[in-house]
Amino acid sequence: MKGTVLVVDDEKNIRETLKNLLEEEGYYVKTADSIESTKKLIQSEYFHTVLLDVWLPDGDGISFLSHLKTYLPDTSVIVITGHGKVEHAVRAIKDGAYDFLEKPFSMERLLLTVERAVQEVLRRRGEKVHQDELIGTSKPMLELKETIAKIAKTNINVLILGESGTGKELVARTIHHLSERKDAPFVDINCASLPDDLIEAELFGYEKGAFTSASARKQGKLELAHGGTLFLDEIGDMSLKAQAKLLRVLETKSFTRLGGTQVVHSEFRLVSASNKELSEEIKKGSFREDLYYRISAFVLYLPPLRERGEDIILLAQHFLDRFSVEYKKPKKCLTDDAKALLMAHQWRGNVRELKNLMERLVILHAGEEIKAEDIRVLLGINPLESYERLFQKDLKSAKREFEKVFIERKLREYGYDLRKVSKAINLDLSNLYRKIRQYGIEMDKGGG
Ligand SMILES: Nc1ncnc2c1ncn2[C@@H]1O[C@H](COP(=O)(O)OP(=O)(O)OP(=O)(O)O)[C@@H](O)[C@H]1O
Ligand SMILES: [Mg+2]
Repeated sequence: MKGTVLVVDDEKNIRETLKNLLEEEGYYVKTADSIESTKKLIQSEYFHTVLLDVWLPDGDGISFLSHLKTYLPDTSVIVITGHGKVEHAVRAIKDGAYDFLEKPFSMERLLLTVERAVQEVLRRRGEKVHQDELIGTSKPMLELKETIAKIAKTNINVLILGESGTGKELVARTIHHLSERKDAPFVDINCASLPDDLIEAELFGYEKGAFTSASARKQGKLELAHGGTLFLDEIGDMSLKAQAKLLRVLETKSFTRLGGTQVVHSEFRLVSASNKELSEEIKKGSFREDLYYRISAFVLYLPPLRERGEDIILLAQHFLDRFSVEYKKPKKCLTDDAKALLMAHQWRGNVRELKNLMERLVILHAGEEIKAEDIRVLLGINPLESYERLFQKDLKSAKREFEKVFIERKLREYGYDLRKVSKAINLDLSNLYRKIRQYGIEMDKGGG
């Protein structure tokens, strides 16, 4: 699910066209035909984005905007204005609209605007709720919390290991927040996403003129982390060349910006994370042993969710409560059958998979009780039912939908490890990426 959208327009044709289009793209869409019906709807449902027509039978959309913003302060509102009505657009933006679309607009333009609007909300919300509490009462979780409390106040370098989605980043942030550095920055770098030629600029920063596009001095992440915590995520995916450079900095904590001569000193606490067995990588020769010893003065291992059964229901209920509040839905509980199903599931995507599932359940189910059947459908355990639905469509949409369900299921099966999925379904990585983007499949990378 890409996000939730409310379409407010008095014309039935437009409502339906936009609804179909946005649903095809993977949004959850509701429609309203007047200010009154919109008011009713937003009292019980949360929307990331509202598409608001200026002309409505019971008033004008722009005057209604401020009311809408008091109910949904985080929501991005896109106002649809008539052709040439510049004054409407200007007023809308002044009154807090995210953007406007002037009629007639192309579907492409619409989709692009909605996508940006939803991203903006997710980013804003992510910043606000950045500090999740570490939930769990299983023995390993209790031990983990105790250890974190002990080491947080020290300066020891910590390496966090565990499968994808087990909470490595959350643990890194928790360590930072419990440390005396909590008011200084927490700077995170995803090593897997940094190509070799960018890593130096990213880590060390550069002086104006260091290379053609360096139009001003830029501080690197190492410098930005001064006084705080530097989080090197997915460090197992760093190239050997980059590892060598990193090692040198960690030894001296001094460096020069690219194109500069001044030595910069930075004092930070290093926390690293990896979902790879680094000892295996060392044996294979793809991770430097000396770097390993430098970053791993203390190692924390996060066990997979399936090995801490007691936490599953606790976490599930925690996420249900949290999303019910967020999406303004009634509080939800799990039937005994549903609990049994959750306990038996493999959770290859760990806590992230559980969190995503609970979010979807909250959005899709109006009732207060979540049954095993509701979960089975979302986990794709009930293929017959989904096949039946496909036969209501034309061939093209049926193919698309099957492809989406297929990829979603494979992602879960392989713990959201794209390389493994790509190999397993014999589809090259770039095509897999493209389809994930195209279908708006949630990877929930980076939480939020
Ligand atoms: N014990 C927990 N209590 C509450 N929320 C949790 C817990 N563990 C993980 N989460 C949540 O689950 C999601 C995934 O966690 P996180 O991003 O920390 O995993 P990760 O180990 O860094 O995954 P990856 O290896 O894929 O980067 C986040 O939204 C996080 O807040
Ligand atoms: Mg992570």
